[in-house]
Amino acid sequence: MQDRFTSTPQIHSADIVRIGVFDSGVGGLTVLQEIYRQLPNESVLYFGDTARVPYGTRSAAEIIQFTRQTLDWMVSQGVKMAIVACNTSSALALETVRAEYDLPILGVILPGARAAALQGRRIGVIATPATVKSNAYLHAIQEANPTAQVWQVACPEFVPLIETNRINDPQTLAIAQEYIQPLLDQSIDTLIYGCTHYPHLEPVLRQFVPMSVKFINPAVAVVAAAAKELNVLGIQSHHPASPTQFVVSGNPSQFTQVATQWLPAVPLVHQIALPTAVVSKPIDIGQNPVT
Ligand code: DGL
Repeated sequence: MQDRFTSTPQIHSADIVRIGVFDSGVGGLTVLQEIYRQLPNESVLYFGDTARVPYGTRSAAEIIQFTRQTLDWMVSQGVKMAIVACNTSSALALETVRAEYDLPILGVILPGARAAALQGRRIGVIATPATVKSNAYLHAIQEANPTAQVWQVACPEFVPLIETNRINDPQTLAIAQEYIQPLLDQSIDTLIYGCTHYPHLEPVLRQFVPMSVKFINPAVAVVAAAAKELNVLGIQSHHPASPTQFVVSGNPSQFTQVATQWLPAVPLVHQIALPTAVVSKPIDIGQNPVT
């Protein structure tokens, strides 16, 4: 039987064409949840590059290559807009690849940074090693508010813990405390989830982060930006959404098992093969830096 995703006909009516959302894994579901809330008429093609997760310890060259491959595939599927629901791709690849596509492409960093700069003065960023190393949040926040102070922490263990459904392990709480205590020591008033996987950790983080520290989920702001863009371009959907189509590059049942907890129904997940990753050395980020 043909895969119903790869065999989807190219339909160019604005009313039924989908938004493409992609991440390395289940992180982009935090953006998908916001689409369900803010854009209930929009249909979505979701891609999780689970065969190559995590992205956050890879080189910029690999992240650019993976982002390009995914966007090429999404274009071949006829999406009307792409949301790069991955901070690592947004930080490392978006500027390089955006002009190659005749398609609106939104990333999560700028909307997230602007939302944080409106809310706080002492801002903590938790993100993947690659995103921290890029300083994308630091620059975007300081552009939005030059008086804001920013501290960043790389959290390389979070994504593997979330992808393997170990959020509620005691070990996850201990690791989270170790990562985030240096930010609390700086008396931050705002904490940005600089990786789309991290809002899934909120119940764990709220066990020790005081309520006075606001959490910023960039998914909220990027979907608001997408709503504006759809309106400006006149390509918003006026009909009820069709079911989200989920496609992964790795094991579909592993994705289904982890993703179901955040979705209204058990997703039907298909697998596609993207070109094999070129594995390079992990980037050098030092030990859990606070910058
Ligand atoms: N969820 C992604 C991000 O926002 C990717 C994390 C990873 O694969 O390391 O950065």
